[in-house]
Amino acid sequence: MLDAKVVAPRGPSELQAAFDAAVRGIAGLTSVDDALQVIVDELRPLVGAAYAALGTVDVDGRIEKFITSGLDDETRRRIGALPEGHGLLGLIIHENRTFRIPDLNVDPRRFGFPPHHPPMTSFLGVPITIKGISLGRLYLTNKIGAEEFSEEDRSLVETFALHAGIAMENARLHEQLQRLAVVDERERISKDLHDGIIQNMYAVGLSLEDVAELIDEDRVEAAARVERAIDAIHLSIRDIRNFIFGLRPELLAGATLGVGLAALADEYRHNMIVDLEVRLPDVIPEPSAEVTGHLLAIVAESLSNIARHSKASRASLELVASDGGQSGDILELTVEDNGIGFDPRGVVKLGHQGLANTRERASEIGGSLAIDSRPGAGSRVIVRVPVSSEVSRRDV
Ligand SMILES: Nc1ncnc2c1ncn2[C@@H]1O[C@H](COP(=O)(O)OP(=O)(O)OP(=O)(O)O)[C@@H](O)[C@H]1O
Ligand SMILES: [Mg+2]
Repeated sequence: MLDAKVVAPRGPSELQAAFDAAVRGIAGLTSVDDALQVIVDELRPLVGAAYAALGTVDVDGRIEKFITSGLDDETRRRIGALPEGHGLLGLIIHENRTFRIPDLNVDPRRFGFPPHHPPMTSFLGVPITIKGISLGRLYLTNKIGAEEFSEEDRSLVETFALHAGIAMENARLHEQLQRLAVVDERERISKDLHDGIIQNMYAVGLSLEDVAELIDEDRVEAAARVERAIDAIHLSIRDIRNFIFGLRPELLAGATLGVGLAALADEYRHNMIVDLEVRLPDVIPEPSAEVTGHLLAIVAESLSNIARHSKASRASLELVASDGGQSGDILELTVEDNGIGFDPRGVVKLGHQGLANTRERASEIGGSLAIDSRPGAGSRVIVRVPVSSEVSRRDV
């Protein structure tokens, strides 16, 4: 079970390099669970311990998570439940300070290991705190190549624990941001539904309320109201279709340019009444996955804007590939509609991210973007991007 490769680096420069690599390995992690595992996996060889663990505790001081490194899955399974924090481990958890113990088995405070637990002797436990708040504890056992952990090991792990704390906090904040983004999106969707479709349906309901009585008093007016209600319901159905179209950008993950454009056009036609004309070249140059991803996202956003805002009767999507000389091809994508148009300079960003994202995406792939629109004159989004001549050409 012992991993012989896990021997601590020797010499100050080797140790410094290993420490740097380990710290870089844990920086920038965006999921808390991943961060905990990577922290123990990086720390164990750095100190030269047979086993490493990271325990986090809940507000009542009970062990919440216990992530291990050096134990194979089978052993972990056989040991069973999480440690409960009796005896020495409990003491370490509650005292929030470093413990360096030459041999756990002769310490009078020991509680004993559960069945199937591998024998453990030397021990080093270090708390992880950030801004005075305890995040968890690092545990190392069975120093490889020595009887016990040294003072240098202690100070190394204490410094590592500072970085581990920052990495854990960073991952936690990242997860929190993602949750907030989902909440934001949900709020936007519920506001859009409330302001638009729900209001319309409410009005339809009101207009039909006294139709039953009206049939006897004024048949013509009653019939006209029912007609108007049917029209309003059809409009709401169209709004719902438009709305759904704007909600499905993940449709395109991993698609080639030709397949992605065709999928977008299909999705649009499926949900929209507005006619969409698609003009693609016979041979579509295939840019890098990154360029393709951004181009498809730009087209998806532009079509979604047409669906949601334009009130157009016609829309078109065109791709033109022209020879850009030695440097390769130039791709020009145009998404156009004949709707109400808008003033691109007058767009406020708050709550309206689509066009701003489109601009960022175009510049990220070294392309240029033109948004050509004014009130009453339809709108046109044109993105031009160079693609290198090494890219393969694919028939679609
Ligand atoms: N094709 C279009 N026709 C008419 N108006 C448009 C069109 N595209 C955009 N607009 C106007 O520009 C505004 C900004 O568009 P933008 O895509 O940035 O935000 P949004 O679509 O309102 O919200 P989202 O962040 O979901 O994209 C829209 O609210 C709309 O008023
Ligand atoms: Mg938009």
